[in-house]
Amino acid sequence: MKRDLIEVVVNDDLRYLPCSGLMSLAEALRDELHLTSVKIGCSEGTCGSCSVILDGEPVLACLTPAVACDGRSVRTVDGPGELEHLQRELREALCEADAVQCGMCIPGIVVLASALIAQGEIRTSEDIPRALVGSICRCSGYTRIVSAIEQVLVSQPSERRSTP
Ligand code: FES
Repeated sequence: MKRDLIEVVVNDDLRYLPCSGLMSLAEALRDELHLTSVKIGCSEGTCGSCSVILDGEPVLACLTPAVACDGRSVRTVDGPGELEHLQRELREALCEADAVQCGMCIPGIVVLASALIAQGEIRTSEDIPRALVGSICRCSGYTRIVSAIEQVLVSQPSERRSTP
């Protein structure tokens, strides 16, 4: 099978990724770069486990063709960068809240929540369930996940959140 070599900045490192026409970004990140934090749950865009940040926007990596990422920038939960601190806070809050059970959904939720908090899309507690609507937790740990994100939201600078 013919494979193209694409250039992608992944977590601030320029990487050359061999990929075939049908390969998804999720497969390329996992299979070629061994970034197994990018989970593949459903492969059809319904669970959110594969969420990554592409050029600053959260996307579902299972529905994103790898070849469409040539020359672009991808961030996963593993990466350094401007969201690193926020992602660390979210990971710690999720652990402290006992919100991590099987762990399948957690990397995608950390990626998504960090991006949306940074963009001002999650500004209040009420925004959190709406923001997570595409992220499926099969262990039904939503209450603890939401409360962990709430904890992080409260600790953010006031310009990132709305005061009640
Ligand atoms: Fe991409 Fe489920 S694996 S949304």
